[in-house]
Amino acid sequence: MENRPQWGTRAGFVLAAIGSAVGLGNIWRFPAVAYENGGGAFFLPYLFALLTAGIPLLIMEFTLGHKYRGSAPLTFARLNKKFEWLGWWQVAISFVIATYYSVIIAWALSFTVFSFDLKWGSDTEGFLFGEYLQYSDPGTVGGIVPGVFIPLILVWIITLGILFKGVKKGIEVANKVMIPALVILFLIVVIRSVTLEGAAVGLEAFFKPNWSQIANPQVWVAAYGQIFFSLSIAFAIMITYSSYLPKKTDITNNAFITGFANSSVELLAGIGVFAALGFMATQAGVSIDEVVAGGVGLAFVVFPQIINEFPALNGFFGSLFFICLSLAGLTSLISIVETFVAGVEDKFKVSRIKSVAIGGGLAALISILYATRGGLNFLDAADYFINQFGVALAGLVEVIVVAWFLKELKNIRDHANNISDIRISTWWNISLGIITPIVLGFMMVQNIITNIKENYEGYPTSFLLYSGWGVAVAAVILGIVFSTFKWQKNMQSVPEQKG
Ligand code: PHE
Ligand code: NA
Repeated sequence: MENRPQWGTRAGFVLAAIGSAVGLGNIWRFPAVAYENGGGAFFLPYLFALLTAGIPLLIMEFTLGHKYRGSAPLTFARLNKKFEWLGWWQVAISFVIATYYSVIIAWALSFTVFSFDLKWGSDTEGFLFGEYLQYSDPGTVGGIVPGVFIPLILVWIITLGILFKGVKKGIEVANKVMIPALVILFLIVVIRSVTLEGAAVGLEAFFKPNWSQIANPQVWVAAYGQIFFSLSIAFAIMITYSSYLPKKTDITNNAFITGFANSSVELLAGIGVFAALGFMATQAGVSIDEVVAGGVGLAFVVFPQIINEFPALNGFFGSLFFICLSLAGLTSLISIVETFVAGVEDKFKVSRIKSVAIGGGLAALISILYATRGGLNFLDAADYFINQFGVALAGLVEVIVVAWFLKELKNIRDHANNISDIRISTWWNISLGIITPIVLGFMMVQNIITNIKENYEGYPTSFLLYSGWGVAVAAVILGIVFSTFKWQKNMQSVPEQKG
């Protein structure tokens, strides 16, 4: 009997899944996406996407991991030998993401320290790009930036340290500490935010429904994109995590809990972020539109400005915010790295220690590229292309393979229903067999057209070829290459499960 590690408790698994789902996307992506796509009216497509793609796919991935008990490559290989590459492709995507995601967490750690004396000064943008990142033009690498490199080492020590300890003692314990801590600290930040002067202005702008947007397909695509990224679907993550579930467990209820917990944090972030933006707009005497931001700009330029204006305890609230960002990021990073740690362990029959050292070590080494003076451009391009032509495409291929090629939906549904509290019915088949592939397919065609018509962010074509398109294509190639190696371990039989 194989000794596959197992979660100690059901709460441990659920917290780890939530830990993966709740990431930077919840805090800096959701608020801006919702605002730009209809505000209050966005909740309709968003909820629809959650119920027809997010939760159904979570159920599917949880079931696959539980049933076949393997990392994504092993799970797909056991499902059908021809599709092992799909698992490796997703693992390769996760590998790419790990290399730059870790760098953003490093920034967040730096800014936690900078908060104490508001080191960024009044020109927060100048500080970020100049003094901190020492930005240089696209395509240039430049030297390593020590201010990023040092916290980056810390990020890897924490992450790999946790992974060395294994699933139960490492990942589970870390999430049991970090997720409750994140929720409490984030609640404090949000409560402070909504009690700021002008908060109501921001909240009104955020929730005000713009129904004229609802017929726009773009809005629906944005909703699906957000749900996909936000729930860590098609990253190989949820399959890997559910492969550590005990035999007697629950699938469907766990998927609903994970999905709704993640959305709750998004909603909370929307409220916190827009209340703070309302405060800032009021202080500056400008409209909300002039201060709205998402992503790096929101977290590292606009937020420091808001902290500057705080009536009291600036340093305290600033560091709380950046600690939240770090915790949300770290629990997600742990889950991404675990995908290739588990993949390598399964296929090449090496110990966890070796697998973490090799896989994690390699990711850490490559991440240094993004800690250079030209790193920001590489990071931006890699992030955009790996999401558009990695995650979203792998998700589309995954549903088509499982639902149409292998016609596995019925088996998966039976397996989930046998062990779960809640029974899934026809809506699940329709969601995965029809709705999700149509929406994702439409999204993909549109993405391809947009990116062929114009260069993302106006970057030079040659730069995008190797740092964007090249990265996305490399993930597919890596996936195929890894699937050709010989299994060092019994791949066919699914091992007996304990308890
Ligand atoms: N789900 C994460 C978020 O919302 C995204 C993510 C998770 C990205 C894991 C990479 C790896 O931020
Ligand atoms: Na998320």
